[in-house]
Amino acid sequence: MKVESLPISEQVREVIIKSGISELYPPQEEAILAGALEGKDLVLASPTASGKTLTAELCTLKHVTERGGKTLYLTPLRALANEKYQEFKKYSGIRNFNGRPLRVSISTGDFDRNDPWLGRADVIVCTNEKADSLLRHRSKWMDEISLVVADEVHLLNDSERGPTLEVVLARLMQINPEIQILALSATIRNVEELAGWLKAQYVTTDWRPVKLNEGVLLQKEIQFKDGEAVKIGEHARNPALNLVVHVAKSGGQTLIFASTRKNAVSLARKAANELENLLSKPVKRSLNLLGERILATGERTRVSKLLAELVKGGAAFHHAGLGGSHRKLLEDAFREGKIKVLAATPTLAFGVNLPARTVIVHDYRRYEVGYGYYPITVLEYKQMAGRAGRPKYDKVGEAILIAKTDDEQDYLMESYVLAEPERIWSKLAVERISRPPVLSTIAAQYAKTEQGVYDFSGKTFYAYQYDPRAIKIVITKILKFLYEEEMIDVGGKDVFATKFGCRVSELYIDPVSAVFIRDALRARAPVITDLSFLQMIAYTPDMYPKLRPYSSEIDELTLFVEQHKDEFMFEPPSELDDSLEFEDFLGKAKLALVMQSWMDEVTEDQIIERFRVQPGDLYRLISSAEWLLYASHELARLFKQKDLVPLLKLLRTRNAKGVKAELVPLVRLEGVGRTRARILFNSGLKTIEDLKHAPIKALTSLPLIGSGVAKKIKEQVGGFVKSEEWKKLRKGEAAEQQSLTEYYRP
Ligand SMILES: Nc1ncnc2c1ncn2[C@@H]1O[C@H](COP(=O)(O)OP(=O)(O)OP(=O)(O)O)[C@@H](O)[C@H]1O
Ligand SMILES: [Mg+2]
Repeated sequence: MKVESLPISEQVREVIIKSGISELYPPQEEAILAGALEGKDLVLASPTASGKTLTAELCTLKHVTERGGKTLYLTPLRALANEKYQEFKKYSGIRNFNGRPLRVSISTGDFDRNDPWLGRADVIVCTNEKADSLLRHRSKWMDEISLVVADEVHLLNDSERGPTLEVVLARLMQINPEIQILALSATIRNVEELAGWLKAQYVTTDWRPVKLNEGVLLQKEIQFKDGEAVKIGEHARNPALNLVVHVAKSGGQTLIFASTRKNAVSLARKAANELENLLSKPVKRSLNLLGERILATGERTRVSKLLAELVKGGAAFHHAGLGGSHRKLLEDAFREGKIKVLAATPTLAFGVNLPARTVIVHDYRRYEVGYGYYPITVLEYKQMAGRAGRPKYDKVGEAILIAKTDDEQDYLMESYVLAEPERIWSKLAVERISRPPVLSTIAAQYAKTEQGVYDFSGKTFYAYQYDPRAIKIVITKILKFLYEEEMIDVGGKDVFATKFGCRVSELYIDPVSAVFIRDALRARAPVITDLSFLQMIAYTPDMYPKLRPYSSEIDELTLFVEQHKDEFMFEPPSELDDSLEFEDFLGKAKLALVMQSWMDEVTEDQIIERFRVQPGDLYRLISSAEWLLYASHELARLFKQKDLVPLLKLLRTRNAKGVKAELVPLVRLEGVGRTRARILFNSGLKTIEDLKHAPIKALTSLPLIGSGVAKKIKEQVGGFVKSEEWKKLRKGEAAEQQSLTEYYRP
């Protein structure tokens, strides 16, 4: 089917043709024949890279330009939300139903808001969690959504994050029974069942625009699914690295999936070693610049230094522990073909379009504390494999698993390459998982009676797949808990949320966390210090990651607990009664200690070394603490614990910036992070007043403060600057900018 003959408006057709697409792929055509453009609900299950996004774009434009509707585009990952947002931006020039230029918005963060500005957008791209939080705030414009796209809908099967997507979809169908649902995935086996729940039609295809050759590498030979065998040269001991060299020699790029961050880093390191001699001079030059750019972004840590070093060798690692700006730099450089090898954790497994001719699935087993090794699912393998051979970039793709023995080769061929993905099962009916949605159902008044809550749960995928009575038992227990903890109340048949319950639902925390916080704020430690609050939040189930004390730390932590007993909101259990519980207590004390070190300006490297936490875990810890301190602040206000409110507010800023209290006024300035603030403070510039009166020279003579930063500071603090000095500053800034662009030019 030609784009020319599509039943869409002329302006849309033009944009699509201009983007280089003139003919639909067969799965797109089938979706349209199944009524996607006429508003039919549809599950589109079609291989990776088969162009499912364009189907979603066409439906979106139909709603937005011809029906005056709005589209919510749901994705599981921020990286994917960004990619989809960029893709939708190509339609910005066209007119919506009301004749206004089409607006696309993206929203992935900050959960305690109803974001009315999003209501002005025609297309909203967001993560499933963000959509959930918007629904809890009853953002008015959510009622106007006429099409919801659930991308990577197999996420329903994920035990942690699947239920959020499930509740969002059930809720949207509840608010607007007319809403059109378009669910997309490459890997659903029980499509019929999923479509049954959504009351949708379904289309399944095995068509892929670029051939994907799957195989297993054993020593020097890859055995492909289609029977072909290919020999590769032998340079290193690790066969995966030989494959990397084999691909690079023919000008291809490789994406390696590793099971842990540590493995990703180690593979990138080895790959950089192997590639060094294969890189041309101009490529090396541009990689050197990229390395410098990585160092110039964010705080310099051991991780960023290592990353910069490896990038110079043409390889990099990519995982959730890297800051967003570093990840973007790497993704862009890989897209531009500069980086030849990217070793990633599964954060890049879903949906993204990258020029990887070859994907290596390096580890098919994963390790979990307390669980041991377990093999990944076929679904996950197929998703990773599907990153290879994307139509924009390659004519053919290959996905390779690594075997150590003949038997393992057979096993991998059978269990992954030739296997079908698993069925998708709802993971909703677990008390911990269902507690937040049950509360939000009542708090946002999606149900006003107990029966209403049961009715809603009856509309979930869980109820469709299993016996609805099973989920009813879980819900009854949760309702009892919420009632006892005074988050909900009843009057006759009515059930409604208390102020406490409403706030907890909006704050997007587990009701159990809220109970811990409320009780601690009321009972209080004998002596209140920063540590009291940090221990309090470390206790909540929302604190992530959990830390376990290493055996070498036990004595030191026990002493720490002994010394600070009076400051703790929760008392230590007896070591003798229950040693496991005591160890758990020490783990929480360790968490509090890590957070305190961060706020006491201990460097990232020192924290990582002393506590043996991964850099990514430190970031996650800071962001969990940010959210929980905010929630604690809000609950302290609600429960009128007035004296604690300012303490929590200060702690929140200190946590966000990683500074002692004395630096707080300085880090509020744009362009001043914890390193610069400390430099200013130690030079005697301790307050905004000091900065206002300081001569420009006093600023620019300090390390890490050039003309650009000095100007930015002065603009913010005000104060008198002589006009010649201002001119000089501007010149200085311009020169700095110039040298930076020279520096970064590829
Ligand atoms: N009709 C078409 N003609 C040419 N290229 C197309 C067409 N439709 C889509 N593409 C291109 O194909 C690539 C893959 O599309 P898309 O990302 O939508 O795949 P997908 O089916 O969502 O895969 P995944 O399951 O991995 O998410 C994109 O780069 C897109 O621009
Ligand atoms: Mg996709």
